[in-house]
Parts: sequence; structure tokens; C-alpha cells
Amino acid sequence: MKKSFKDRILISSKDRSSRVVLALDIIADRRSQLIDRALSLLNKLSLHIAAVKLNYHLLLPLNLFTDVKRIVNHVHEYELQVIADLKLNDIASTNLVASNYLWKTGFDAIIANPFIGYEEGLEPVIKRAHDMDKGIILLAYMSHKGSREGYGLTIIDQNLRQEKIYELFVKRAIEWNADGIVVGATDLEILSSIASRAKGKLLIFSPGIGVQGGDALKAVRAGADFIIVGRSIIDSEEPLSKLIEINEATYP
Ligand code: XMP
Repeated sequence: MKKSFKDRILISSKDRSSRVVLALDIIADRRSQLIDRALSLLNKLSLHIAAVKLNYHLLLPLNLFTDVKRIVNHVHEYELQVIADLKLNDIASTNLVASNYLWKTGFDAIIANPFIGYEEGLEPVIKRAHDMDKGIILLAYMSHKGSREGYGLTIIDQNLRQEKIYELFVKRAIEWNADGIVVGATDLEILSSIASRAKGKLLIFSPGIGVQGGDALKAVRAGADFIIVGRSIIDSEEPLSKLIEINEATYP
């Protein structure tokens, strides 16, 4: 039986002694520079990371079926998983078109927004992903300050009980059979409160390390299984040393 996304990423993490999901957020004027830099960073860092995440930085300027596929294939040559960070957030028919293109390109998991809901929203996307041994990761609480304006709202449930909307998203991620959730490393109280509900049921991915102010070790201590790191590594003068420093702190 083929392994699930969850199993595959946990195996890579253990093999490489790393919890780092490398955000390949490269900025350049030319398409060839984006590709060259992506491949060169992968060659330098792939033996010390758990997975790779691609965002609009590469998904918008590059051709999906040629350039992005080349990068995705390169990641797979290193036996690592690739996550598409589109924060998918539309009706099911559109979500299915977008996710089908991403699966066809070879991505192993997609980040989606639970605000859109299950019925005619994420249900068919999650089911199709699992039919193909792919993963869906849902946002729970984001890493930027304005997250509290949406993900931090207090809501009243059908029984007139107050709860935070991120608590509802965590419950839904479990009910909907998602593979993981994204919880920012910038609010450790929220991260550890979510981890106490989700640990062992959902993989916890935590962005916001370094440039956004979060600390990798504190995030892992608060319950993150994986830390998503971009600029602190890729914009560093010595990306490999920076990565190894993070690995040594978070995967001793
Ligand atoms: P930096 O450079 O800040 O990059 O290490 C972080 C990467 O992760 C994305 N990001 C998020 N993705 N939920 C997500 O799904 C979040 O809360 C979140 N915060 C940051 C960011 O776009 C970049 O690719």
C-alpha cells in the first residue's frame, strides 16, 4: 500500500533529522533566475530539510507544467515532499480545478482555508486528495498580526457557548480528516493551546519563524511538528549553516 502524505513527511523528517519545511520564496526579475536559484538552494539544503513549500513567489511567474514541475521533480529526486501554499479558498468546482492542476504537477499536499466550509467547499478536495494519497493542510491561526482580526474572533456556537474561531477550525480539521493544520509560531499561547487539542491527530506546521519574530525552538516546545522557514534561511549569507543551526536546536 502506498504511504500517505503524513507518513511520507514524517519519514523524511526522521531521515534528515529536521523539522524544517523550506519555503522557497525566491524573488528575481527573470524566470531563469528563479529556476536556477530554486534548484541551487535545493542542491545545497535538501539533505537537511523535512519538506519544501512553494508559494506564489514561484507559482505565479513560472509555467506550472514545465518550470514548476521541474522544481517539484527535483525535490522528489531528494525523496522529499512538496507542499503548494495557495491557501485554497473557493467553491468546490474551482478548488477541484486548481487542486487537479497542482496534483498533475506533482505536489504532495495543498494548504487550504477552512473559512470556505466543507459542503461544496473543501469536501471533494479532501476526498480526492486522499484517493490519490495526497495531503490537505488547513489554516488554523496565521502568523501575522492581523490574524487576530479573523482567525482570532470569538464566536457563539449553536448551544450559545463562546469559543475562538481557531478552536472551531481545529475541531473541523479533525472532523474533515485533514492531514495537518498551520498555526503561527508568533503566538505561543495559541500554538500550545491548539497543540493540546490537535497533537497526534493532525500534523502541526508553524510558520512565522525569524523575520516575523517567532522562535523555532519555542514553537517546537509549544507543540509544532514542523516549522516553516523561508527568508531567515534563503536570504541568509550562509543558508546551510543557518539551516543546520535551526535543526540542531529543534531536532537534537
Ligand atoms: P518567512 O520568510 O516568513 O516565510 O519564513 C514564511 C512562509 O510561510 C507563509 N506563511 C504562512 N503560510 N499560514 C500559511 O499557510 C500562515 O500563517 C503563514 N504565515 C506565513 C509565507 O507566505 C511564506 O511563504
